[in-house]
Amino acid sequence: MNLAPITVAIHTLGRDARQDFIDGLRDGLTRTPKVLSPRWFYDERGCELFEEITQLPEYYQTRTEMSILERHALGIMLTARPASIVELGAGSCTKSRVLIRAAKGMGTLWTFVPFDISETTLRNSASELVDEFDDLTIYCVTGEFDHHLSQIPRFGRQLIVFLGSTIGNLDLEQARMFLSEVRRLMHPGDHFLLGVDFVKDERELLAAYDDAQGITAEFNLNLLHRINRELDGDIDVSAFEHVALWNPADHRIEMHVRSTSDQTVTIGAAELSVQFDTGELTRTEICAKYTRAGVEALLAEAEMRPIEWYADPAGRFGLLLAGHALQS
Ligand code: AVI
Repeated sequence: MNLAPITVAIHTLGRDARQDFIDGLRDGLTRTPKVLSPRWFYDERGCELFEEITQLPEYYQTRTEMSILERHALGIMLTARPASIVELGAGSCTKSRVLIRAAKGMGTLWTFVPFDISETTLRNSASELVDEFDDLTIYCVTGEFDHHLSQIPRFGRQLIVFLGSTIGNLDLEQARMFLSEVRRLMHPGDHFLLGVDFVKDERELLAAYDDAQGITAEFNLNLLHRINRELDGDIDVSAFEHVALWNPADHRIEMHVRSTSDQTVTIGAAELSVQFDTGELTRTEICAKYTRAGVEALLAEAEMRPIEWYADPAGRFGLLLAGHALQS
């Protein structure tokens, strides 16, 4: 039986998520070129499809990062010695479980603070975690990366983790702002563990975002289905196709939906009517890939200092453990 409490602190922008979705569509679909935010991928179906993506043979990222964590969790904990682990974008907490196990084994850890946009996900993950760690205090924080990081409470020396190469879904400006917010949470002696997908052969990257089974295509096009389901849209999803492109100048995969005909779609709840030309691309996500030097430069701007890189033998994916720039 768990003796330590689970607390859930909920932070919202005080505005309706549906209205946010509507405003995002009005903004993105009236721009040239059109753009949609990847944050709308993750309805229930989108979460299921993302879970399937993580199991795909072509999507090496999740299992590679997990193998690095399993191999190096103890080493990371020997350096970080956290009293508290904070996981940003915690989701199912599968990866942090490996870190928690290692820190618990060393006897330093008392609190786990998962931060995620979804309250339901956090409650489910927390109740699964307490089954294994019966004296761990879990303080769940729901909120959004760009607004609520400052609400994360501090429970002593901390290790903040941001895994899965989610930083790649932010553009450079967003990544800079995000890292400076993370740095604001850190005191000397705290650590930050960042998971990044490295720049590599274009074919391998394209396969990871355009798999043979078509699961990534379904994930991408689910965004259009979602607009139909939730916002009274009349989009003929079969008149769009999934496209993944490598942008060599910005070192990133870009996911788009391409219109296969000249068509007009209406989105009732947004009072929006949008014209698409044959072949027109609407960008739905960026997935930036980094070099070690690129990550280190970004962290230096945020006044963090690299301590150690951990990577798989093939060098596909890396975890960087960083410290506060003021610590020796
Ligand atoms: C969540 N994120 C890190 C994934 C990625 O690889 O950028 C999202 C994803 N998009 C398509 N496949 C996976």
